[in-house]
Amino acid sequence: GCEKEENPYKQRLLVVANRLPVSAVRMGDDNWKLNISAGGLVSSLLGLKGFEVKWIGWAGVSVTDEVGQKSLTKSLAKERCIPVFLDEETIDQYYNGYCNKILWPMLHYLGLPQEDRLSTTQSTQSQFDMYKKANRMFADVVNKHYQQGDIVWCHDYHLMFLPQVLKEFNTQMTVGWFLHTPFPSSEIHRTLPTRSELLRSVLAADIVGFHTYDYARHFVSACTKILGLEGTPEGVEDQGKLTRVATFPIGIDASRFIRALDLPEVQEYITDFRERFAGRKLILGVDRLDMIKGIPQKLLAFEKFLEENPDWCSKVVLLQIAVPTRTDVPEYQKLKSKVHEIVGRVNGRFGTLTSVPIHHLDRSLDFHALCGLYALTDVALVTSLRDGMNLVSYEFVACQALKKGVLILSEFAGAAQSLGAGAILVNPWNIPEVASAISYALNMPSEEREKRHQLNFMHVTTHTAQEWAKMFVSELDETVVEAQLRATQ
Ligand code: G6P
Repeated sequence: GCEKEENPYKQRLLVVANRLPVSAVRMGDDNWKLNISAGGLVSSLLGLKGFEVKWIGWAGVSVTDEVGQKSLTKSLAKERCIPVFLDEETIDQYYNGYCNKILWPMLHYLGLPQEDRLSTTQSTQSQFDMYKKANRMFADVVNKHYQQGDIVWCHDYHLMFLPQVLKEFNTQMTVGWFLHTPFPSSEIHRTLPTRSELLRSVLAADIVGFHTYDYARHFVSACTKILGLEGTPEGVEDQGKLTRVATFPIGIDASRFIRALDLPEVQEYITDFRERFAGRKLILGVDRLDMIKGIPQKLLAFEKFLEENPDWCSKVVLLQIAVPTRTDVPEYQKLKSKVHEIVGRVNGRFGTLTSVPIHHLDRSLDFHALCGLYALTDVALVTSLRDGMNLVSYEFVACQALKKGVLILSEFAGAAQSLGAGAILVNPWNIPEVASAISYALNMPSEEREKRHQLNFMHVTTHTAQEWAKMFVSELDETVVEAQLRATQ
């Protein structure tokens, strides 16, 4: 296991992210039900120890009345969460609009409707204005709660404007920014009409972090090519002022998953699932229903595998958990129909009177059910077209101590950099390649499975969420101290 050093003093860490780790549902005027939300960032920061953490972000609902805002603020305080209230118009323009229609596809190398990229269209311009306005709303809340000595850690593409606004408030504030998505080639980023403004505001942070070396390199290239700044081994320099740019691959709280396997609730699920999938090998996919996850490609590869290996039809099942996400964005609605169409076709082609090869669910699973499934899975199939890291692959590995199942992993997920030795890496666009990887994984001898699992397990249990957070924060501290030293020299 990994030793965790306890921090002798607790430093306050204000974690600012679009989404709080809890989402609220209104049950009455001043009565709120709080749920843990899905998503990679949420599960990784759950494992963060040694700091006094406060979360600042959106609780997933629009609350416009004073009674509601006050009572929700009070309920969230018990969870160390501070809400930012975004009205429906802001959600639509900033979150559905600029974040998820423009930035998200751009960061993942996905094309998007031409008109959405035209800076002259009324909608895109007002979306960007609203993006900046929303970032200011986050900044106001941070500023209100900030105490001298706090560390402010901003997260993800929703808040690229935040570092600059925070530094405008207070140049002494220690500000870090971490991107959970890929940062694409500068040739992609430079097509954005707002390219310079976004880069400059991110550069206001003391440190800018990415999951992989490539993402960091692309960011530095964008700054040198688009802003004409100087890239150094440390980061980006602008008239003597350095913004540190570095790589911090995220992990999970592996022990939380490993411990969960012994819980009676999880054991019950395992017994139940084992019965339900008896006599069949289980291939598992767990993804938010997002374009970047390559779910259609995964289904087509499975179809090809069945075509080529008819003997397997009654002996294997692909269980695809497709967690609903961003359902107000039309592209996501279209994706859902497309996925359903393929599932229907494949099951129609290869199903029998008593069983179908694809078991598809449009829903999320609770933590215990998920752990049970991970533990029972023979092959996990991750076919992201692009993915910042992909922690599902980590979670699967953490739960596989007994079974030693196989991970098939897209080379376009950040996780391919860390689990590449143990996983079977595939190009998800190459359907025949993925189909043969499925066959190879299902037939893999146990010694090879064990060896591969061992490599992955070692990585997942040592490169944890806690380590990630510790590294980021201590590097941020160091950067600030060095800057102070330089300023006094
Ligand atoms: C990705 C993003 C996160 C986001 C999550 C869920 O992992 O990097 O910032 O929270 O998806 O998406 P949602 O739009 O529901 O917050």
